[in-house]
Amino acid sequence: MTRSSLPIGVFDSGVGGLTVLHECLISLPAEDFIYLGDSGHFPYGTKTAEELRDRASRIAAEMLGRGVKMLVIACNSATAAAGDEIRSLGSDAGVPVVTVVGPEAEIAASISANGRVGVLATPATVESGAYHHALEAIGKPLTVTEVAAPDLAPIIQEGPTFDEEVLDTVRGYCEPLRQADIDTLILGCTHYPLVAPMLQRMLGRDVSLVTAGHAIAAAIQRELVGRGELSEDRVEGDYRFLVTGDVDSFVEVGTRFLQLPLAGRAERIDV
Ligand code: DGL
Repeated sequence: MTRSSLPIGVFDSGVGGLTVLHECLISLPAEDFIYLGDSGHFPYGTKTAEELRDRASRIAAEMLGRGVKMLVIACNSATAAAGDEIRSLGSDAGVPVVTVVGPEAEIAASISANGRVGVLATPATVESGAYHHALEAIGKPLTVTEVAAPDLAPIIQEGPTFDEEVLDTVRGYCEPLRQADIDTLILGCTHYPLVAPMLQRMLGRDVSLVTAGHAIAAAIQRELVGRGELSEDRVEGDYRFLVTGDVDSFVEVGTRFLQLPLAGRAERIDV
């Protein structure tokens, strides 16, 4: 077996990373993917940095042990707390690690016309200052307004009912962003693209929403091309799921979000 035929590993605390996997399945259809949803330990967004480093390192070791050719952290909270640890675990195993945060920061800095950028993210990501540092490192004068949304990923993970209460919660998160007159909003949690229409309506059409999917799929492709590890010899690869929590609810909510079948492809594991 050549390295190019190995799967790409993608992980998140639950269904949010499916927004990244979705773009990968479209942009890189010939690749095989293994997606690990750590839903048995959801949410990540209210864990401490130390707890997140522990979880993310275990998950990364599990994926690396399964023989992936690349590891994608499709979770902002895990990237913010444990990105460096996971990169070094990957480099010890000779496996490149692609993460969120940096790509979204670059897109936001390049498209913002008024220089006022918002970040909507989990408490763990906001507290880490990861976006603040990533945006600052780009060196463009930007005013950054960060809002922590402790309830939003759990609402989405449960399988959205989208009632009036959910709208009120989201309106509350949007208020400081509206007041800051941002023209660009980074959806700093991979769950949030799943409520993009709601956010867009509340913030107005003129605010650009930046998500991780396209940028991550492009980063994966660049890395694979550079390493000569692109899988090109077929039309459609395989995709499978490992779930640390309840498989049935992951499959139900995930199928709706991914808009591709998950049934028969998901297996329960303990990590
Ligand atoms: N989807 C994750 C993120 O990007 C985590 C959400 C959570 O588990 O709280 O941060």
